[in-house]
Amino acid sequence: MTTEIKTVEDVRNIAREKLKGICGVYKDCDGDPRRLCQGQSYGRALGIGGTGSGASFNNNYLALRKYKLKMELIQKDIVPNTFYDFFGRKLTMPIMAASVAGVNSFGGDRVITEQQFCHAVVQGCRDAGTLGWRGDTYTYSLENSYGIDAIAEVGGHGVKIVKPRNQDTIISFFKKAEEIGCVAVGVDIDGCGSYAMATHKKPVFKKSLEEIKELISSTNLPVIIKGIMTVEDAGKAIEAGAAAIVVSNHGGRVLDHTLGTADVLPHIAEKSKGKIRIIVDGGIRTGYDVLKMLALGAESVLIGRDIIRAAVGAGVKGVRIHMEYMQKTLQKAMKITSCRSINEVSPKILY
Ligand SMILES: Cc1cc2nc3c(=O)[nH]c(=O)nc-3n(C[C@H](O)[C@H](O)[C@H](O)COP(=O)(O)O)c2cc1C
Repeated sequence: MTTEIKTVEDVRNIAREKLKGICGVYKDCDGDPRRLCQGQSYGRALGIGGTGSGASFNNNYLALRKYKLKMELIQKDIVPNTFYDFFGRKLTMPIMAASVAGVNSFGGDRVITEQQFCHAVVQGCRDAGTLGWRGDTYTYSLENSYGIDAIAEVGGHGVKIVKPRNQDTIISFFKKAEEIGCVAVGVDIDGCGSYAMATHKKPVFKKSLEEIKELISSTNLPVIIKGIMTVEDAGKAIEAGAAAIVVSNHGGRVLDHTLGTADVLPHIAEKSKGKIRIIVDGGIRTGYDVLKMLALGAESVLIGRDIIRAAVGAGVKGVRIHMEYMQKTLQKAMKITSCRSINEVSPKILY
């Protein structure tokens, strides 16, 4: 008799079996140096952990944990609204699946194929009322662009992030995304440090302000710059005309010993809020974490590793169950901190 998969725990229990030796599917995915995913990058592929000592991955988690939520209770009852408008798409929550690519990092076809993974993410997100982003890696090409194909299957309801390859290739990916009606496109500029691309002769580059301007003017779609960790880079993204930034250190996978994203977010928000959409990722595991990031100045967040585990555990259904859990915990946190809508979230709810 097969038991029905209903909860996040059900999904994670299956993922734990399938990801043996790669990811412990711990209760807290914290990037602690003793976790089995950490330290896998010395001389070989990265797995699902952080690069080098794993400090950047761990710092994302630690930075968020420094903030505490303030309870505010004696008031009329409320049912918080987690609704979010993302470039005209009405989403049930300000929480989307991060651009993650390369199932070879977590077991390859033995665990899940790239096609199944991309499909699970975009379809599962859509079923939960939100949006899946898709990434890019050395196995992707214009002819074999798994992420864009999966987004096409759901009528363009997704975001395509391209690695900082040469300009012409990025522009061709953008055109393809435009043809299938993607919501937005972007470049993970921190991907210029990608180990996987470098070892598979797929050159990636740092991008100048002029090059970013060229990419933005090549498409009618909103362009997102992912991998912003400083006020200065955020300012340059605004100057280039980007539609959004993602404050991100790539889940701690490109440079050892960076700050956590919750450390840099308030500084970036102070200078850039209102001038550009600010999205953040890194170590966000529950709706409580989401609320902290919104209070620190982000308008929405991305979820990386937890979506991998959800897709591996139960495909489309696993991703939907996980996103619904995120929405419910966000709504609970908003109720107890007295935020009726995401626009009402402010730094005042934090200690
Ligand atoms: C296995 C793996 C593959 C990833 N691939 C990409 C990618 O192709 N493009 C990209 O922009 N970011 C990629 N990322 C980074 C995520 O988009 C995101 O920034 C990060 O996972 C967020 O941190 P979290 O995993 O702690 O939630 C990847 C992350 C992981 C763990």
